[in-house]
Amino acid sequence: MKTIAVFTSGGDAPGMNACIRAVVRSAIHFGLDVYGIKRGYEGMIKGEFKKMSANSVSGIIQTGGTILRSARSDAFRTPEGRQKAYEQLKKKGIEGIVAIGGDGTFTGAQVFMQEYPDLAIVGCPGTIDNDLYGTDFTIGYDTAINTAMNAIDNIKDTANAHDRLFFVEVMGRDAGFIALSSGIASGAEAVMVPESKTSIDKLIQTLEENFQKKKNASIVVVAEGDDAGGAFQVAEAVKKRFSRYEIKVCILGHLQRGGRPTCMDRVRASRMGIAAVKALMEGQKGVMIGEWHRSIKYVPFEKAIKHNAELNPTLLEMVKILA
Ligand code: F6P
Repeated sequence: MKTIAVFTSGGDAPGMNACIRAVVRSAIHFGLDVYGIKRGYEGMIKGEFKKMSANSVSGIIQTGGTILRSARSDAFRTPEGRQKAYEQLKKKGIEGIVAIGGDGTFTGAQVFMQEYPDLAIVGCPGTIDNDLYGTDFTIGYDTAINTAMNAIDNIKDTANAHDRLFFVEVMGRDAGFIALSSGIASGAEAVMVPESKTSIDKLIQTLEENFQKKKNASIVVVAEGDDAGGAFQVAEAVKKRFSRYEIKVCILGHLQRGGRPTCMDRVRASRMGIAAVKALMEGQKGVMIGEWHRSIKYVPFEKAIKHNAELNPTLLEMVKILA
């Protein structure tokens, strides 16, 4: 293999830049030519390729977002779009690709490789949601939970000052990792996640017990994908039957996606980026780089996407014990 490319796709995550840097610098170290593809699959179709040098990735390890931009591409969902993308790659002589993203990115990569078997794509898990099977942590997750935790700490100050109950909504369309970790770390009274059935009755019981324990304020962290709805819906349902506190809602939203990556995310992203280049050089394809019990593992895309990482139930139990 002589020429590879790297792109980011789907929701951006802090640490993606550290990963791009590691891919570019390790590729150059191993004597490969490396291109950066702008705007994910969309840029691939349009031929938005840039030859990268060691300097192209200077000064980015500490930044959030992605210098290669990200996009969701409708055109790539069509065979015609994928054919155009393939032709653009061939024009540049690109044989191997590092795809940094989440399940949508890897699903696209799988279809692409089935149609064009001479392409080798290796993935790095880049998503704040931490919802990919086969890696203990995804790139961006550590930063996102710290951002959410800091925001909840701030909300606690004002909740305490005014004797209020806050419903704080964190990201996680299909997964409760961010909610659970940031909730435990900020001492939330309850955490609601898509992985477990939400009972408004039980929630009200918990809040009442806390009120009886003389807590003057409470925090409930709600994952956006919770089965009872987002924080507004849960707050509405509680408000109808529980009036011990004034109730407020705060949606943390996209602020969780940006910001300077933590040390853990920078190191993890750098390690995974190098591992992805090595995997391509070994002839691997269709696998995601996972960090599993501290070691690098190759996880077939199919497993990474379909098996979904599972929440540790003992952590959910912890919230109840510690509330
Ligand atoms: O990056 C994953 C994620 O943060 C989900 O938790 C969330 O639902 C989604 O992205 C929102 O992304 P966007 O608003 O950019 O489409």
